[in-house]
Amino acid sequence: MNILVTGGTGFIGSHTIVELYEAGMDVLNIDNLCNSEAFINENVDAITGNKQIFICEDITNEEALRKIFSSHSIDAVIHFAAFKSVNESVEKPLEYYRNNIGATITLLNVMKSFNVYLLVFSSSCTVYGQPDHLPVTEDSPIKDAATPYGYTKQVCEQVIADFAEANPNFRSIILRYFNPVGAHKSGTIGELPRGVPNNLGPYITQTAAGILPLLNIFGNDYETPDGTCIRDFIHVSDLAGAHVAALKKLISKKSDLQVSFYNIGTGKGNTVLEVVKAFEKATSVKVNYKITGRREGDIEKIWANVDRAEKELNWKAKYSLEDAMLHAWLWEKKIRNI
Ligand code: NAD
Ligand code: UFG
Repeated sequence: MNILVTGGTGFIGSHTIVELYEAGMDVLNIDNLCNSEAFINENVDAITGNKQIFICEDITNEEALRKIFSSHSIDAVIHFAAFKSVNESVEKPLEYYRNNIGATITLLNVMKSFNVYLLVFSSSCTVYGQPDHLPVTEDSPIKDAATPYGYTKQVCEQVIADFAEANPNFRSIILRYFNPVGAHKSGTIGELPRGVPNNLGPYITQTAAGILPLLNIFGNDYETPDGTCIRDFIHVSDLAGAHVAALKKLISKKSDLQVSFYNIGTGKGNTVLEVVKAFEKATSVKVNYKITGRREGDIEKIWANVDRAEKELNWKAKYSLEDAMLHAWLWEKKIRNI
């Protein structure tokens, strides 16, 4: 099977390429490196012992995409390529709409021209906002998006559903990721945020490495056991494995549904403070932190009901939060030469 991966040099894409090779699939990775570095591809190849085909291209460029589809055999597509910064999306909405929604439309259009009808799409638990009931299931209502980034995921889900309606051969699995953390267990690939990180995982590792002076924990007055927010933190390699499981399901043609949605999390919520403690326990390195005010727009608590993915994709997260913290630390130490 030849799998086209868009955005395959990024955090989740690179880990997914490792899993795809482990499952015996071949990879064509298209990434314009707008939020990643080319050496990650080499590190992925070093882990897998394979040479992925890499094309540095912007997938909003329809002509270029057509050339790629015409010169490669492609059985299915995993579409990661997007901008992902929640804060930046508020400042640059048009860029986010063009890159996230525009690229998805362009990709679907080209897939249709070349009769490539299997797609795995990266969505997010952000579509649920603050759910009324926890753990959140796939049938929970979609809430008004708090940011342009969140809205792009909702629109893309709808674009894919409408495209399916008009194209009976098309099948898609939409994965709603919870909070990916960690790195490959070898410490060879991991998250590579540009500038000061927004997300908790790299903020912890960079603080532990002494690159940042202190982790600000945004609020300890939420209605949670220790007052800090709760998320469902999933090891990125587990998340990556869910894409292989989704592809296998699409390829087996076992589902009657043209478009299916799956929560991809661990099924367990952890507070922000618990994540810090898990890091300290796994690495024996202290994290300098202080409690500050709430961050605007934060959801108080969310974690996934993952029954559907377990049952229908035959997939389950395996790594613990401590594993994720340890692997993220191995990666941080590698890139900082610590
Ligand atoms: P990332 O930024 O690390 O990876 C995205 C990759 O896509 C980057 O390598 C970037 O260079 C590339 N890219 C972006 N626009 C492109 C374009 N027009 N053409 C070609 N390449 C392009 O992000 P990630 O964390 O790996 O996220 C992957 C996907 O998962 C995204 O769609 C993101 O919205 C979604 N997602 C991420 C998270 C998270 O917390 N990381 C959570 C939920 C959903
Ligand atoms: N947090 C801190 N300090 C920090 C960073 C984060 O206390 O320096 C806290 C946040 O307040 C939040 C939790 O850690 O309570 C997680 O925050 P992240 O920014 O890591 O993640 P979010 O849940 O806010 O959002 C992330 C991605 C979104 C995605 C969502 C679900 O940024 O794009 O997960 O997948 F939609």
